[in-house]
Amino acid sequence: MNFKIAVLPGDGIGPEVTEQAIKCLKVVGDTFEHNFTFEEAPVGAVAIDKTGDPLPEATLELCKNSDAVLFGAIGDPKYDNDPSARVRPEQGLLKLRKELGLFTNIRPIKAYTSLIDRSPLRPDRIKNTDMTIYRELTGGIYFGEKKLNEEGTLASDLCEYSEKEIERIAHQAFKAARTRKNKVTLVDKANVLETSRLWRKVVTKVGESYPEVELDFLFVDNAAMQMILNPSQFDVILTENMFGDIISDEGSVIGGSIGLLASASVGDKHGLFEPVHGSFPQGKGQNIANPVASILSAVMLLEYLGLNEEAHALDCAVTIAIEREIVTEDLKPGSRFGTKEVGDHIASLLADEGDKICFDPENIEYGKSTII
Ligand code: IPM
Ligand code: MG
Repeated sequence: MNFKIAVLPGDGIGPEVTEQAIKCLKVVGDTFEHNFTFEEAPVGAVAIDKTGDPLPEATLELCKNSDAVLFGAIGDPKYDNDPSARVRPEQGLLKLRKELGLFTNIRPIKAYTSLIDRSPLRPDRIKNTDMTIYRELTGGIYFGEKKLNEEGTLASDLCEYSEKEIERIAHQAFKAARTRKNKVTLVDKANVLETSRLWRKVVTKVGESYPEVELDFLFVDNAAMQMILNPSQFDVILTENMFGDIISDEGSVIGGSIGLLASASVGDKHGLFEPVHGSFPQGKGQNIANPVASILSAVMLLEYLGLNEEAHALDCAVTIAIEREIVTEDLKPGSRFGTKEVGDHIASLLADEGDKICFDPENIEYGKSTII
C-alpha cells in the first residue's frame, strides 16, 4: 500500500531522532512491501527563523494532505527566557493540534523488565506497570482566553470544557480499556474546579455504555502521588489537557527515561505521532539523544494506519534492542551507542529478521527470545 507521511522534525534533537524513526519505517516498507513517501516541512523555532511563523501555512497544508504526521520536537531556549516574545515555537504545535482536530493524546507508559533498575523508583513498586494516559489535547486552559492587563501586572488563562469535548475523548478511553484491563481512572480536581465536576458527570454517563469497564476517580494531587507509589494499579488514565501534560512527564520516571515515551495524537480525520520528550537543546547534534520514543511513535503511526503486524514487528525490534542493552546513555551511563547506532540496530534487526521478528513478548527475557 502507499502512504504519504508528513515529517516535521522541528527543533533541537527533533531532526536526529526523527531520522531514526524514518529509517525504521523505510525498512518496514521494504519488508512488508509498502511504499512510504516522506515529505518534510518546518515547524517551531526553525520555522520562525525561516518564515517568522512557527506553523507556516504550507506545513499545515502538507499535514492535512498526508496520511499521518511524524513530529520531532519543539522549543528553543532563546524563547523560554523571554516572557515578552511575540511568537513562540510551542504556538506552532498547539495550532497544529487544534487545526488537525487532534483531541485525543495517547501516552503509553510501561516498565521494561531489563530496565527496571534504571528507574529511580524501587523495582518492586514499578514492576508490572502498564498504563496508558488519555489526555484531552485541544481544550482546557491551553486554549481558553488569555489576558494580561496594560500594566503587565495581572494575567489570567481561562479553563473551559464543553460536554461534547469531554464525551468524545471519554469514548476513546473506554474503548481502549476494553482492549486492555477494563479500567478507566478519571484524574481531575473535582473538589475545587467546576470543569472537573463536569468531567465527572459526563464521564460517568459515557461509562454507562461500557458496563464491563470499571470507572474510578482520583484528584490530580493524589494521582501524582499514586503514580509513584503504586503505578501498576492503573490501566487507562483519562484526564484533561494540563493535568495530562504534567502526569505524563511524571510517568516517564517509571520507565527510567523520558526518552522511551511515545505518543499518538488523533482526531476524526488526522493522526500525529511524536515523542513525549522536548527538544533537549543541550543534546542537539551530539548523537546522544534516545531515538526510542520517536521509533515507538512510528509504531503507533503504523497502528493508526491499520498496519498492526508491522507495528508489532517494529515494537519487538525496539524491545530486543533494549534487552540487548543497545541503548543510549540516558539508560546506560557511558554507553557506546548513540542516537544513530541505536536506530541502525533496530532497523537492522527488522531488516535481518523481517516479519519473523514477531514473537510472544512475554518470552522476551534476555537470551530466551527466538531470534537472539
Ligand atoms: C507536550 C509538551 C507540549 C504541551 C508543549 C511543547 C507545548 O509539553 O506535548 O507534553 O505542553 O502539550
Ligand atoms: Mg509536556
